[in-house]
Amino acid sequence: MGLSYGVPPGHGGPSQPTGLFIAFEGGDGGGKTTQIQRLTLWLRQQGMTPVVTREPGGTSVGLQIRQLVLHGDDLSARAEALLFAADRAHHVDTVIRPAIEAGQIVLTDRYLDSSVAYQGAGRALASDDVLALSLWATQGLRPHLTVLLDVAPQEGRDRRMAQPDRVESEPDDFHERVRGHFVALAAADPGRYLMLDAGLPVDDLAAQVVAHVEPLVTSLRTDASRRPHGGPP
Ligand code: TYD
Repeated sequence: MGLSYGVPPGHGGPSQPTGLFIAFEGGDGGGKTTQIQRLTLWLRQQGMTPVVTREPGGTSVGLQIRQLVLHGDDLSARAEALLFAADRAHHVDTVIRPAIEAGQIVLTDRYLDSSVAYQGAGRALASDDVLALSLWATQGLRPHLTVLLDVAPQEGRDRRMAQPDRVESEPDDFHERVRGHFVALAAADPGRYLMLDAGLPVDDLAAQVVAHVEPLVTSLRTDASRRPHGGPP
């Protein structure tokens, strides 16, 4: 897998060093946070310090958007889609792209597929429009790998600890559409997705994630060692 995938022209190409960008996606209550923590721990054990971030809310502006979009008054579907895209645009410009351009590893809890699944399939906006909006917002930046933790809505609800937010409060049929869309995205591009059953034991999931990430990290380190001032990210 080429590490320059998803980095648009002018933002690093095959000959330029780039980092590694991994997104964790899936329905609410699927255990993304736990798996990100586990992968972070493994990366630290390998001597690397990833940038760990999330959407919405990976920046200070993003935290204000998060409050508005998840805990504010009701919003029209299009306004909601635009707010998630605005959060993502700022997040990519100020956190994600600078980090991967510096050769770092970025782990994000949700990214563009969440908009395609939740605002596209869930809110029944045209998925292609929602994707185009996020691609515009991010200047085409897509992850090298997306880990999809597939969870049934009922199961996810049972596992959630906090009070449900605006999106989580939607009924099961909304979350079924979201789940179906996530699965379809992963099935359409198996080379860039790792789809896992979120119901498996945490240790098994963590081991599968590491098995997929290890070769990407090895390749990143090989690239880094070829740089004039290369070294571990
Ligand atoms: P998340 O931060 O995963 O929830 P929590 O902090 O409770 O674990 O996500 C918040 C909600 O935002 C989640 O229900 C999915 C929704 N969401 C969208 O609808 N579209 C998006 O583009 C993103 C990033 C999140």
